[in-house]
Amino acid sequence: MEKELNGKMLVIPEHVAIILDGNGRWAKKRLMPRNYGHSQGAKTVEQICEDAWNIGIKYLTVYAFSTENWRRPDKEVKALMRLLRKYLKDCIERTAKNNMRVRVIGEKSRLDDDIRAAIDELEEVSAANTGLNFTIALNYGSRDEMVRAMRHMAQDCKEGAFSVEEITEERFASYLDTKDLPDPDLMIRTSGEQRLSNWLLWQLAYAEFYFTDVLWPDFDKQELIRAVEYYNTRERRFGGV
Ligand code: IPE
Ligand code: IPE
Ligand code: MG
Repeated sequence: MEKELNGKMLVIPEHVAIILDGNGRWAKKRLMPRNYGHSQGAKTVEQICEDAWNIGIKYLTVYAFSTENWRRPDKEVKALMRLLRKYLKDCIERTAKNNMRVRVIGEKSRLDDDIRAAIDELEEVSAANTGLNFTIALNYGSRDEMVRAMRHMAQDCKEGAFSVEEITEERFASYLDTKDLPDPDLMIRTSGEQRLSNWLLWQLAYAEFYFTDVLWPDFDKQELIRAVEYYNTRERRFGGV
């Protein structure tokens, strides 16, 4: 899809995946506790969902909590879970108005029961919505996702659902948490870090990468448009010439 933004015709990526990073540093710069950065970051997520949809993006996927983030001090993990509870609750109400379809990817069994119940409710009440496809990665790690997928696939294979020869890229992808999503076209990471930190390793095979020094709580619609402009300067060849 093409759209005029800032006076330019731009190709809009269908699926944008974001590593929202820099909440802690944003707070530190303001001499505030890291958790303050996380609550500002949650507000930014809310705003960016709206902006992404207005720009014409159909799928937005954000990395909110990784399988490695449990290594953080207990106090920070607890605060993040508190924030998540509130976010999910607000989101259940909001999806009725903004028509957003919400999905959660990641390994859910490690999350508390009430959080899992809120996720189920959110996915259920928004399932028929036709607006932005918003996906939140919680306790997500790409290697963990692939190992879970492989176990499940091997089990089905062992039970005779298909032969070893019938294992294809498509079949494997259908066992991933992202089975209902197209591969991302554009990956954005904020805060100046240039690494994947276990994010969508399979799905990003042909995505364009955009890195910005902007810290996540400061990320806004203009920054998102800048990333889309960068995307438009790239020539995607998918292995061809
Ligand atoms: C990203 O911000 C949010 C989460 C990983 C939960 P950080 O908390 O990683 O912020 P920095 O990188 O320490 O600044
Ligand atoms: C990646 O950010 C995970 C999320 C944004 C949820 P981190 O801040 O945890 O990653 P590292 O530790 O810098 O690689
Ligand atoms: Mg970080």
